[in-house]
Amino acid sequence: MNGMAPVITVDGPGGVGKGTLCQWLATRLGWRLLDSGALYRLTALAAQRRNLSLHDEPQVAAIATGLDVEFSAGENGILHIRLEGEEVSAAIRSEPAGNAASQVAALPQVRAALLQRQRDFRQWPGLIADGRDMGTVVFPNAELKLFLTADPVERARRRHKQLSENKMNVSLAALEREIAERDARDVHRAAAPLMPAADANILDTTPMSIAQVCEWAWRQARQRLEIPTQHRD
Ligand code: C5P
Repeated sequence: MNGMAPVITVDGPGGVGKGTLCQWLATRLGWRLLDSGALYRLTALAAQRRNLSLHDEPQVAAIATGLDVEFSAGENGILHIRLEGEEVSAAIRSEPAGNAASQVAALPQVRAALLQRQRDFRQWPGLIADGRDMGTVVFPNAELKLFLTADPVERARRRHKQLSENKMNVSLAALEREIAERDARDVHRAAAPLMPAADANILDTTPMSIAQVCEWAWRQARQRLEIPTQHRD
């Protein structure tokens, strides 16, 4: 096939339902999935395991460059992530891991180190890219750009439900504080701050079910992309 594989970017803050939507879209279209947040989470975890300060930009960037990571789809489409051969899928999902990720994500050298690795995911038949800067920085020429938002209290509630289902106990109040802190860092950082691309389609998911969000995204995809008939409904 000629040319670049198509990309749908899905950006927005934590707890808006991006992860679920992206997995749904990737399964429905039979496309690859890039969980870019996992790369920042893995970088932070690898740095912490080497007892590095998360503020040591050159050292953390070196970790990002050499990150020995393997993504593989297990049963039921569940993504397995191995860091230096060790399964860390659950370890990187905790709130502290998310917070550590947002600290290293503010470092420009770390973002630069992960840029090409993310672009390499763009392969046929297509890519669903989940993150904060997919439509603005990593894939500025994406075929379709979606940006999800939701009220912070609702996002804390959703995150709480998700963490409880994974048997991680965090109080709702603590989550609301952490979400506010992480939002502030992601929105106000100088390097690739969290914001919608000028040509993104924005959706406030606060009053919506995940099924409604998927339906909305599917409508956008059908309008914008040539979807093979076997994937149409
Ligand atoms: O999406 P997830 O919660 O896994 O992301 C963890 C952190 O990684 C975010 O809070 C953000 O600071 C950072 N991130 C980023 N750019 C991305 C994806 C994630 O800065 N494309």
